[in-house]
Amino acid sequence: MRIILLGPPGAGKGTQAAGIVNKYNMPHISTGDIFRKNIKEETELGKKAKEYMDKGLLVPDELTVGLVTSRISEPDCANGFMLDGFPRNVSQAKHLDVFLKETNIKLDNVINIEVDKNILVERAVGRRICKSCGATYHVEFNPPKTEGVCNVCGGELYQRQDDTEETVSKRIQVYLDETKPLADYYANEGIISNINGQQSIDKVFEDIVNALGSEK
Ligand code: AP5
Ligand code: MG
Ligand code: ZN
Repeated sequence: MRIILLGPPGAGKGTQAAGIVNKYNMPHISTGDIFRKNIKEETELGKKAKEYMDKGLLVPDELTVGLVTSRISEPDCANGFMLDGFPRNVSQAKHLDVFLKETNIKLDNVINIEVDKNILVERAVGRRICKSCGATYHVEFNPPKTEGVCNVCGGELYQRQDDTEETVSKRIQVYLDETKPLADYYANEGIISNINGQQSIDKVFEDIVNALGSEK
């Protein structure tokens, strides 16, 4: 199965991705995670991406599209993959379409997680992530058993640098201007599933699984 997770910052893409890859056993390709890994390792790509991410802006397509197309060309993606946070504008979606056509691959589903703008800031600002395993928590909505400590691996929790109120607001604006139009783009292709993201994490997951049906 080849799927895309679409939705605003803080919608729950990463949270739901963890359950989806576990159930359907497919690679989780998050451009945000790839950029953050490069920033941590201080690569050239990381240095360039950081300039944009710290401001809440999109990293330019030249640095992003090739990264994704080469990742989905790897052998572990042969039977399926899940893209989280890509594409993020119509130009990226068009590049992806061209690549998929060339390689004879079809997308099965675009899961569009919808959440009202006014609760997104609260979600992102309260987010905490495990330094060791990447598990995602929320100080109020999904707290760890012990404050600051990961339930899964005991790792230390941290806050993303772009999860300040100011940067999140900018990211939401960028989403509305550049990413939201993709919902229409994929609706026209007839492969979108709109999911209400303002329900419990478990209920959102249940709705996603229902939307994906028995696709393999
Ligand atoms: P990226 O890392 O993709 O961030 P994002 O799209 O802003 O989305 P988030 O990761 O913030 O939110 P999420 O939907 O994953 O929510 P989560 O599950 O964590 O991108 C970061 C940056 O990288 C971009 O700004 C850009 O600069 C760059 N970038 C990335 N891809 C790019 C591309 N293709 N092109 C150009 N630039 C790119 O949940 C959030 C919080 O809410 C958590 O605390 C969670 O516990 C909680 N939560 C989740 N679900 C629920 C629920 N149902 N109820 C209550 N709380 C919930
Ligand atoms: Mg995420
Ligand atoms: Zn952990």
